[in-house]
Amino acid sequence: MGFIREQDIDDAVGAIRKTTSLEPKIGMILGSGLGPLAEAIEGAEHIEVNAIPGWPVSTVEGHSGKLVFGHLEGVPVLVLQGRAHYYEGHSIERIGLPVRVMQKLGANILIVTNAAGAVHPEFSPGELMLISDHINLIGMAGQSPLRGPNLDAYGPRFPDMSQAYDPELKSIARAVAEKGDIPLQEGVYVCLAGPSFETPADLRFLRGIGVDAVGMSTVPEVIIARHGGMRVLGVSGISNKANLDGSTVTTHEEVLAAGDVIVPRLTALVSGVLKEL
Ligand code: HPA
Repeated sequence: MGFIREQDIDDAVGAIRKTTSLEPKIGMILGSGLGPLAEAIEGAEHIEVNAIPGWPVSTVEGHSGKLVFGHLEGVPVLVLQGRAHYYEGHSIERIGLPVRVMQKLGANILIVTNAAGAVHPEFSPGELMLISDHINLIGMAGQSPLRGPNLDAYGPRFPDMSQAYDPELKSIARAVAEKGDIPLQEGVYVCLAGPSFETPADLRFLRGIGVDAVGMSTVPEVIIARHGGMRVLGVSGISNKANLDGSTVTTHEEVLAAGDVIVPRLTALVSGVLKEL
């Protein structure tokens, strides 16, 4: 499976339209352990992603592999519970397909979440981090979801990334967090290919180049969304402290367990933002 063509997007949309006619205004992607946020959706219709042609299906524990259509705070939404990651073996181009499909179904805003390790020394597990910007390290290493023929109907060959995360959505999120007493850090996210966690030397390098939180997702999806002109809000749930001095061990179980603390906060933040839109 190589580059994404418009036909691939239309085929996936066609399969989804057999089940629902809902036109989402907002697409959401839920990170590891954050799937339960979809339980807040009213009038939910579920579609198993393995029934959608070409869809990159997740095999990771904590990612259930469903699309949930419905309403959150009265806003029609489409929530992807269980994203696929590059390390699972999907091509980097295919990782972007769900975002193209969300846009084609009507969404013009993407709310993207992830579980991330805190590289910033003062960030703690359980906190949320508003993504102010990202470092596209995986892209610098040659893995761009936009590689291949440009989809001119969606966006330009060389899309701008000066405002990858929408300034207005960021200020709404800050205001909602302040009003609701939701602890909200803010910082720069980096996406690595994974699936191995970082060595202490990796982490010192990342801190040195300005990273606050590290994960294995999000950046390819944001690049696709911005290429298509969608506005993006990104939030990391800090699931563990990255291990800069080698004194602790990082596990996927720890990442999933942090979801229990993060989900209520994330639900409150996202619901608050939706109310303001
Ligand atoms: N490193 C990379 N990805 C992650 C981490 C981490 O510490 N925690 C959750 N996703």
